[in-house]
Amino acid sequence: MKKIFDYQMEWSGLQNRMAYMFNPKSGRTVLLAVDHGYFQGAPSGLENLRKTIEPLLPYCDAISPAIGGLKTSMDPRTRTPIILRATGGNSMRRSDELDDEIATVSVEEMIRCNAIGFTVSCYVGLPNQRQTIENLTTLADEAHRYGLIAIGITAVGADPVLTKFVKGEREDGGELTPDDKKDAVRYLKHACRVLSENGADIVKTYYCDGFEEVVDACLSPIVIAGGTKRPTKEALDFTHKAISAGAVGVDMGRNIFQNEHPVAMIQAVRAVVHEGKSVAEAYELYEEIRNA
Ligand code: R5P
Repeated sequence: MKKIFDYQMEWSGLQNRMAYMFNPKSGRTVLLAVDHGYFQGAPSGLENLRKTIEPLLPYCDAISPAIGGLKTSMDPRTRTPIILRATGGNSMRRSDELDDEIATVSVEEMIRCNAIGFTVSCYVGLPNQRQTIENLTTLADEAHRYGLIAIGITAVGADPVLTKFVKGEREDGGELTPDDKKDAVRYLKHACRVLSENGADIVKTYYCDGFEEVVDACLSPIVIAGGTKRPTKEALDFTHKAISAGAVGVDMGRNIFQNEHPVAMIQAVRAVVHEGKSVAEAYELYEEIRNA
């Protein structure tokens, strides 16, 4: 006989939207980030946004453009879920002001575009941390009335110390010292927890050694960004390590669209994220597709 809690009495729009972007089998996601133009202008690989996006669309579970990219370069008939970039107001031309972000898209506009969610960069530890955390709380508060997904990003701008943590290398390109590595875990753990405590349904951050600690301390599921373009095997390696440490997927851009073979790369990333393939197996798949 059914008991009271056996009956489903509620429907959650937010959970339903999550189901659109997470693969039902693996419970993970490959979110393709193509929003970089909002502060980088036209970075390599995104000069012709439409041309870059089209061959990759069949292989991503969701896509994250900025509002201009969405309106001008994406076919409105696409069935791929949209995660809209919702903060900005900065540009690489003033790299010392990268943390000075404001909300750039209203919740009404997100709904009009049929986005299932949005991203907000929060610059924890930088001069504008309060303003950027407020961007997250204000947008999440309003968007949650409609069941949209809030993704908070632990952004570091051009800060030399924090940049070192997310790049995983020292300013001169040398390896991080054991102390740097400890500081990186401490920082990312702190920043991720701050975002999840302030209403992010998903936290997007960067992989670092000791990532299990970051995942454990964060109340929300974590996806990793790729950061600057790395050699193919290296990118697959940190993706594999992040997934093994408990990340629920990637929100990756440059390591896919700047790869010499983006379509092969996104499929190799999928193999790691969704099928738990090893780095060697994923690289083999990459080579097969590249050569085909
Ligand atoms: C910043 O440019 C955006 O939030 C990107 O979407 C994010 O950094 C992920 O892209 P990538 O993998 O290139 O770091």
